[in-house]
Amino acid sequence: MCGIVGYVGGQSALDVVLAGLGRLEYRGYDSAGVAVLADGGLAAAKKAGKLANLHKELADRPLPTGTTGIGHTRWATHGGPTDANAHPHLDDAGRVAVVHNGIIENFAPLRAELAERGHALASETDTEVVAHLLAESFSSTGDLAESMRQVCGRLEGAFTLVAVVADDPDVVVGARRNSPLVVGVGVGENFLASDVSAFIAHTREAIELGQDQVVELRRDAVTVTGFDGAPATVRPYHVDWDASAAEKGGYDYFMLKEIAEQPKAVADTLLGRIDAAGDLSLDEVRIPAAELREVDKIVIVACGTAFHAGMIAKYAIEHWTRIPCETELASEFRYRDPILGPRTLVVAISQSGETMDTLMALRHAREQGARVLAVCNTNGSTIPRESDAVLYTHAGPEVAVASTKAFLTQLVACYLVALYLGQVRGTKWGDEVRAVIRELSEIATQVERVLETMEPVRELARSLADQDTVLFLGRHVGYPVALEGALKLKELAYMHAEGFAAGELKHGPIALIEDGVPVVVVVPSPRGRSVLHDKIVSNIQEIRARGARTIVIAERGDAGVAPYADHLIEVPATPTLLQPLVTTVPLQVFACELATARGNEVDQPRNLAKSVTVE
Ligand code: F6R
Repeated sequence: MCGIVGYVGGQSALDVVLAGLGRLEYRGYDSAGVAVLADGGLAAAKKAGKLANLHKELADRPLPTGTTGIGHTRWATHGGPTDANAHPHLDDAGRVAVVHNGIIENFAPLRAELAERGHALASETDTEVVAHLLAESFSSTGDLAESMRQVCGRLEGAFTLVAVVADDPDVVVGARRNSPLVVGVGVGENFLASDVSAFIAHTREAIELGQDQVVELRRDAVTVTGFDGAPATVRPYHVDWDASAAEKGGYDYFMLKEIAEQPKAVADTLLGRIDAAGDLSLDEVRIPAAELREVDKIVIVACGTAFHAGMIAKYAIEHWTRIPCETELASEFRYRDPILGPRTLVVAISQSGETMDTLMALRHAREQGARVLAVCNTNGSTIPRESDAVLYTHAGPEVAVASTKAFLTQLVACYLVALYLGQVRGTKWGDEVRAVIRELSEIATQVERVLETMEPVRELARSLADQDTVLFLGRHVGYPVALEGALKLKELAYMHAEGFAAGELKHGPIALIEDGVPVVVVVPSPRGRSVLHDKIVSNIQEIRARGARTIVIAERGDAGVAPYADHLIEVPATPTLLQPLVTTVPLQVFACELATARGNEVDQPRNLAKSVTVE
């Protein structure tokens, strides 16, 4: 939430910062702004709305050229999305500029204190207090990094701050508590950003900043200290993807590209984790096997789409390991005083690794003595850093706000965790599990096959562009898939969409069914647990009898359900627990196409941002 860029080097800071903001716009698009140091002063421009508005403003009123600058793309928290509330925020004299991601919880008393000392605050934001406090402090220290440390000591809440001062034009200073901030190390130039995609076109060498650290960036030096001024140890790393991975690559939207990348993302997430004998080797899960054998409860915490992956994981974990497993919304978890202990394994699922609700849940779990395993897509992000172990998904950068390939890889990672626990504990390690591992190795090809047959789904989506409501039904692992289908449609098409467990229909939701209401039904395989299949076929008949238009996602050749489908979407046969890997894909395509048909912005749906770093 909110994207931040800082640059010092030999290039035009404005060009570097604007290009970086372009890559970070997915983090928030309520307003954007930049500040550059030039001609002994500080010049800033900011505009409400998308980055394109700022580009227009800069074309009308160009800024002077400088080689040090900062920029921001905003997801509004305190103060509406106006020009005045856009970042950067400046002090009274216009000599200090600051950008911020997070929430400064004690901004009200600080604001009152500054007003009393005669400062004029020009915005409604929590951020502006920092510009004034920094300016006051800098007038006595003459050292921006030292002033940043002093000011951070007075702030409460979550904040990433990046600041520049006209009196020291070759330095950019950043500070980090709870929100992300990464250093990009170049030759004769250095970068700061909320994530590496902002500077990946310039360098793939990065440094993770830890909690409560301040970084001072000069052209040839990066100095990191704690908030207390003590030198800090940092972890440099090499980014293993390049700029092309964060480009649209010929697709109209990142979401389309990311949907298409799913077979590769799934295959990459499995790569090297299943050996030739069909055993799992997950050395990166650094929790010793002896401890995993002692686990008596698993709690999965996650938000949104990642939570749906967690719901599916519960079915797999309990079935393959017989360890009781709960899946809980991270935002609810710590507030209900959950019962945790040293034998509890908490699995925190997060694409970004920065979601504040999930981070707070995992901190709570660790405080209670539980071990935490992160399933995460972003190397070096906060959630894996603060966990006991991590299993990375290898989806590559996900830019579209609506999660697609990250979801499929989260599922794969969760299956691996479940199977690995089964392997380590020797539970149910029989033919069924071996067969599942074999099928998992084939699953990327199955996803590919689904993608090849999506034209009728797109056509159907276009034909539904004028609908007000779409309902989704599923049973067993099809239930979280139904929830995911509804979430995608809500966030992208802005339609009323709801997912239900098909068995719950008769307990209330069936009242929503009237003539012509489209209902998407995710049908379990007719093989194996056919009782599930038969039950859902009955549910389909119940809704059809009341006028619903049924859109059925079923295994290819499922003759039992075909007669009741107004629209049939066939997917390849897979074991029941793996079915979400193939049944989710048509729902992603459906939502994306419906959003396009309704003229919505697919990659940047209204009111949303990727990487939600506030609670
Ligand atoms: C929906 C979506 C969100 C995220 C949620 C968690 O398409 O993307 O619901 O899944 O905000 O984000 P991460 O996985 O980054 O913790």
